[in-house]
Amino acid sequence: CGIVGYIGKRNSQEILLEGLKKLEYRGYDSAGVAVYTASGLQIQKAKGRIANLESKLEEAPLNGSVGIGHTRWATHGKPSDVNSHPHTDNSMKFSVVHNGIIENYITLKEELIEKGHVFVSETDTEVISHLIADLYEGDILKAVQKAVKRMTGAFALGVLTEFEPDRLVAVRQASPLIIGIGEGENFIGSDIPAILEYTRNVFILNDGEMALLTREGVELMTLEGNFISREMFRVDWDIVTAEKAGFDHFMLKEIHEQPRAYRDTMGSRISADGTQVTLNELTTLTPEAIREINRVHIVACGTAYHAGMVGKYIIEKMARIPVEIDVASEYRYRSPIITKDTLVIVVSQSGETADTLAALREAKRCGAHVLAITNVVGSSVAREADDMIVTLAGPEIAVASTKAYTSQLVAFYLFGLHLAQTLGTQTAAEIAETLAALKALPEQVEAILEQAEAIKGVAEEMAKHDNLFFIGRGLDYAVALEGSLKLKEISYIHSEAYAAGELKHGTLALIEEGVPVIALATQHELLEKTVSNIKEVKARGANVLGIAVEGELELQKSVDSTFVIPKTLDVLAPALSVVPLQLLSYYASLARGNDVDKPRNLAKSVTVE
Ligand code: G6P
Repeated sequence: CGIVGYIGKRNSQEILLEGLKKLEYRGYDSAGVAVYTASGLQIQKAKGRIANLESKLEEAPLNGSVGIGHTRWATHGKPSDVNSHPHTDNSMKFSVVHNGIIENYITLKEELIEKGHVFVSETDTEVISHLIADLYEGDILKAVQKAVKRMTGAFALGVLTEFEPDRLVAVRQASPLIIGIGEGENFIGSDIPAILEYTRNVFILNDGEMALLTREGVELMTLEGNFISREMFRVDWDIVTAEKAGFDHFMLKEIHEQPRAYRDTMGSRISADGTQVTLNELTTLTPEAIREINRVHIVACGTAYHAGMVGKYIIEKMARIPVEIDVASEYRYRSPIITKDTLVIVVSQSGETADTLAALREAKRCGAHVLAITNVVGSSVAREADDMIVTLAGPEIAVASTKAYTSQLVAFYLFGLHLAQTLGTQTAAEIAETLAALKALPEQVEAILEQAEAIKGVAEEMAKHDNLFFIGRGLDYAVALEGSLKLKEISYIHSEAYAAGELKHGTLALIEEGVPVIALATQHELLEKTVSNIKEVKARGANVLGIAVEGELELQKSVDSTFVIPKTLDVLAPALSVVPLQLLSYYASLARGNDVDKPRNLAKSVTVE
């Protein structure tokens, strides 16, 4: 989601709309503004793109010089007018825009309902506005501070109250927020592009900080109210660079957003004590329904299909239910055996891929139970499936999928563990061990990203070749397929992913002096066998880059160079090992001078069969 805010002398409606347009890449399910007008705090919102809001505001303008605005990417609650921001309380005197997720919103909501608050939306944000109203005793700053103490999760907030029309409060806790400094006017924004047209002077808030904005100035403080002094930051980016948060391409930005996407997707789905997975969003897939499932079909296209390959392994290992996987365009035509005890999992970032949607409809027609794993709450796939697990990667702009894929993996881990918990196929200790390792992933991805430069060198070398191979066994094979697809999509280098043990049955004929081979070797039980396959290609002159887990020195000896990933459980290794492969493709594409974000012939969402 994206948020903006303005306090000054100009017409805030114009400034908010312009800001929102710049943030539309952060979400476009719905948009809204709240403006302090002569007749009090007024809200206008509209489902769909910002243009819809704009035309509503043209018909009925909101005149005033203080306001907040929001463009939404649905997480809790489907895209609709009522779920759009800004949200308010029952007195309609408070207004809030929010980016992030309040993990304990259900508890807070129940508490507030008992006190007599009435809620109109399904969102976590509405809870914030009620909470602030509930705690208000004449000072909005204090009320927000008290409210924030009660909230867990990630949030950036913009808050207004009709009682104090000359103050705008902003908060940052694990979701981005910046403050723009003007003359006689000040701004807030999720991102620099939102305000760049008006000022280049900004304060970047850190986690756990807040700000009080008036027309005359800005005070920065901690959430506890201790004042902070900070140097102003002068932005010298142009608008286009700013939309990419300073990264050269959306793909690189999205690769770097993965730690955040992991955290959000796990979020409130792991119990605070780290022992349980809670997938409250599953409604028809009750424990009884889960016990009836005797087979699982995973159906998807492209990168989502590769996430499904990892998903198959996870579900079979954790829940001991047989899983088949198909590319969606094939599924319907092989007359798959589908009964009411079949669970069909469709995986789709966009939720609009025509092949996947057709497969979903066929599965439903045959009486299967359909679970969607998707990144877009209001998408066709999300609407038509019986149940949904939403990945919280946020909008993905680059055609080559990165953070959506890894968030799909996280969704599969959570679902696999949920099945294991329900069916008793894993012990409580095993589940807790996996959850602890899952929670460590975001930091481990951060550690990998810090080594991006090392990959750049390898990628530039690789970009000189026209053919290369990815090999791996087990889960490493599934990741090899994704690594190879990523490379083909954006660098246009021909590559093939092979199950390492299968190479000698044909493809080995293509290995000759200097051919690059990327060998994934993260699976401990298969390591010795993979090393044998590495030796086979080395003996034919291949130049091997190994992707190995920290400490595996034997493997490192058998390859020409190694990229090391942090230690994790074997089953979780794909969530780490794919990251260097994403970077490899990115830098190879760059070295070849390609359009990284918009590769030739490909589209982000393919809505034809
Ligand atoms: C297109 C994109 C791929 C994507 C596939 C499935 O082909 O270019 O990057 O993996 O569609 O998309 P979905 O939105 O269903 O995950």
